[in-house]
Amino acid sequence: MNILRVRDYASVSEKAKNIVLDRISDFSDTTIALPTGNTPDMMYSLLVKEYQSGKVDFSDVVIFNLDEYVGMDPENPYSYNYYIHNRFLKHVKTERSYVPNGLAEDLDRECEAYEDKIKEEGNLDLALLGIGRNGHIGFNEPGTSFDSLTHVTDLSEDTMEANARFFPRDLDFPEKAITMGLKTIMGAREIILLASGNEKANAIREMILGEVTENLPASILQTHKNCNVIIDGDAASLLGNST
Ligand code: F6R
Repeated sequence: MNILRVRDYASVSEKAKNIVLDRISDFSDTTIALPTGNTPDMMYSLLVKEYQSGKVDFSDVVIFNLDEYVGMDPENPYSYNYYIHNRFLKHVKTERSYVPNGLAEDLDRECEAYEDKIKEEGNLDLALLGIGRNGHIGFNEPGTSFDSLTHVTDLSEDTMEANARFFPRDLDFPEKAITMGLKTIMGAREIILLASGNEKANAIREMILGEVTENLPASILQTHKNCNVIIDGDAASLLGNST
């Protein structure tokens, strides 16, 4: 793991944006997994700005969203499909983009098809990740097998509590999601995990310094050959000087 400590959230976003731009210009036909949530928000705005000023071209980039809530209409503003279109995909021209369909009648088949699609596209070159305060990546909650492929998962109480903050009261928070599995994510040639803020400090410490255990899914990243972790001072606050 390569740990990049930067000052604040804006610097995490800037650094992540620069790495994404580097990778896109280094390779043609890049396949990238993207996260949703608060953490990557500013990075997407920065990428869109660069695109609008003509400094970057995503036309041979293929995008896979990491996850989606089960039962959520893609047009629903709280769906991850809506998020990624609204923040990023509608502003840039990509080659192709995919988001799991949380309304699929046969969810297991949808998961298999998603996994097959990633293979057909030549596997992931880059996976960008956030991290949950319980150490989840994608929606691979504590206890998920390191061998997992794209699957349907029950969201943990902690995740529901963390994410329900942003939901309107009249919309029931989904209890399940489709997520790329840990093996799917680990199959990426490069991984970049972003974290900002005190509420991630404990998960970051365990991910970097703790044992590699399915109880802290992100700890698997210690075993990846090319993983960059970009964290601000608050997210790094429990690391001491050891990294
Ligand atoms: C979402 C995802 C999750 C989030 C994590 C952190 O697509 O994969 O693992 O990255 O829950 O969310 P934020 O950034 O909202 O704190």
